[in-house]
Amino acid sequence: MCGIIGYTGSRPAGPLLLECLRRLEYRGYDSAGIALFDEQQQLYLARAEGKLDNLANRVEGRLPPAAAGIGHTRWATHGAPSDRNAHPQLDPSGRVAVVHNGIVENFEALRQRFTDRGDSFASDTDTEVLAHLIVDALDGGADLADAVRRVIGETEGAYSLVAITVDEPGRLVAARVGNAGGIVVGHGEGGADEQFVSSDLAAILPLTRTVTFLGPGEVVDVRADGVTLTDADGRAIERAPEVQPFDPVAAAKGRFRHFMLKEIHEQPDAALDAIRGRYLLDPPRVEIESFGFDEARVRDINRVVLVGMGTSLYAAMIARHYIERFARVPAEVDNASEFRYRRPVLDEHTLVISVGQSGETVDTLAAMEEAQRAGCAQLTICNTPGSQATRLADSTVLIRVGPEIAVASTKCLIGSIIALHAAALQLGRLRGVLDESTAREEIESALHLPAALGEALLLEDRVRELAARYAQFDDFLFLGRGLSYPVALEGALKLKEVSYIHAEGYAAGEMKHGPIALIDERMATVAIAVRDEVREKMRSNIEQVRARRGPVLALTSAGDESLEGVADDVLVIPAFDGALAPAVSLIPLQLLAYHIALERGADVDQPRNLAKTVTVE
Ligand code: G6P
Repeated sequence: MCGIIGYTGSRPAGPLLLECLRRLEYRGYDSAGIALFDEQQQLYLARAEGKLDNLANRVEGRLPPAAAGIGHTRWATHGAPSDRNAHPQLDPSGRVAVVHNGIVENFEALRQRFTDRGDSFASDTDTEVLAHLIVDALDGGADLADAVRRVIGETEGAYSLVAITVDEPGRLVAARVGNAGGIVVGHGEGGADEQFVSSDLAAILPLTRTVTFLGPGEVVDVRADGVTLTDADGRAIERAPEVQPFDPVAAAKGRFRHFMLKEIHEQPDAALDAIRGRYLLDPPRVEIESFGFDEARVRDINRVVLVGMGTSLYAAMIARHYIERFARVPAEVDNASEFRYRRPVLDEHTLVISVGQSGETVDTLAAMEEAQRAGCAQLTICNTPGSQATRLADSTVLIRVGPEIAVASTKCLIGSIIALHAAALQLGRLRGVLDESTAREEIESALHLPAALGEALLLEDRVRELAARYAQFDDFLFLGRGLSYPVALEGALKLKEVSYIHAEGYAAGEMKHGPIALIDERMATVAIAVRDEVREKMRSNIEQVRARRGPVLALTSAGDESLEGVADDVLVIPAFDGALAPAVSLIPLQLLAYHIALERGADVDQPRNLAKTVTVE
């Protein structure tokens, strides 16, 4: 969702905030804004609807010299994208400015309270009431940190904010309320008197690697020469800063036109990083360095529940097969946003495995909290060290594929599939149910995966040709069975996310129960019919679509010519045996979505209405 940045120090704050906003833009691009203190220590405010470039053009040559300020990129929740709804939001007197991520649920009642006493509001946002509340507290004698803590007590919902006031230029106060996205403080390197505050570690890592993460209900009072961390009641919290690794190359687009394409092409290397040191031969076994459950705890588990959202949910669906196959525990998958609202039956014998790129998706965190209340064992599969999911879980398996910038997830999915595969094998070994030959087959095939992914990338020219033809369709059906069913769901999701084409993923066996009514020559079907035990049934489904004049693009495995002449187009992908096969099928589907989006002139890296990290329910 929205991106937040703040700075205080001795460097020119304006250009620095804009630089950080560039790295935050993927979180939201409905509008952007900054607030700085000018030479008279008054607030200088600039906001612009749309992409960050609009703001950058607006402030060009006009930024006042300033040593502190805040900035924001917005993903709209309350109020349409517009200049006046852009953040920072101010109180009517311009004394306080606030940037905010998440939702203030009782904002209408609060707003009413202020309008009743004659205050005016300049926007439709829930954020603006935060500025009013802070000024109210300042008027009552509170200082900025006390005022923010008081606001936490008066508001409902989950959000994070950073506030500044003209009373004390150079001071920022940030808070994290609940699980609507994190706040991380970056401390000046080499003893420099400067501090950063951000929603994203990645935004500040090129500037400092020494950071402190805030937990829910924590407030940080930031001045250039130091920070004070407290809970919502003002009790001091001691937390030593941590040093995070930073790879400058990983966050650059390099020779690629888009981050999405770069990340698709990174997948063989990403798979290597995910596998490295964890998959071992002689004897064949998986050893995850951070796996926090011993044999006794693992044997005590009688059920596994996997949760996630979006692409991560599909990784969880694939992993359900892994858990049942290798660890022989009943496993189920839940959309995290549905999970806690149906009073799930959970206890200490349940292992909840949450999957996420960001570790900050609010629905996934809420599901984890539900599991925590029920005393479940919790494992999280996550790509973001230090994120809230890693703090809530008993144990974390890091995905280790480097930062993913494109909104549409690609390499993180491959990495999560591998991490989940590894976790299932480890669970199976600790439970004593994984036989050596299965372990050997799976480990050997995992070690071949990076090469198979590299081979799959060689299909790009052929996919580009197909994309040029298939881009004319306005409706797509993606069909798969077994392990290829979540692949079909992901193929459809990628296409709709980046090209805005209507696409649905279906379990191929379900097609006859509804979707088949839609099939005619204007509805394209992508069928994943790779070499596995359900391939023959996929072939029948393809025939059923063709019999109704539906055009079919089929994915098959090398060495299998039987679909030539059955499907209209056949895309032959590298043959890959073993449970990690979905990773290979995903590559051509990602490329197809990417190239169809290019054909249609869509904004691949920043698709409309989407956000990389979804921190509202
Ligand atoms: C958003 C992103 C998706 C992502 C999903 C879950 O919808 O656009 O790419 O799959 O959130 O995010 P998570 O960080 O929990 O994996």
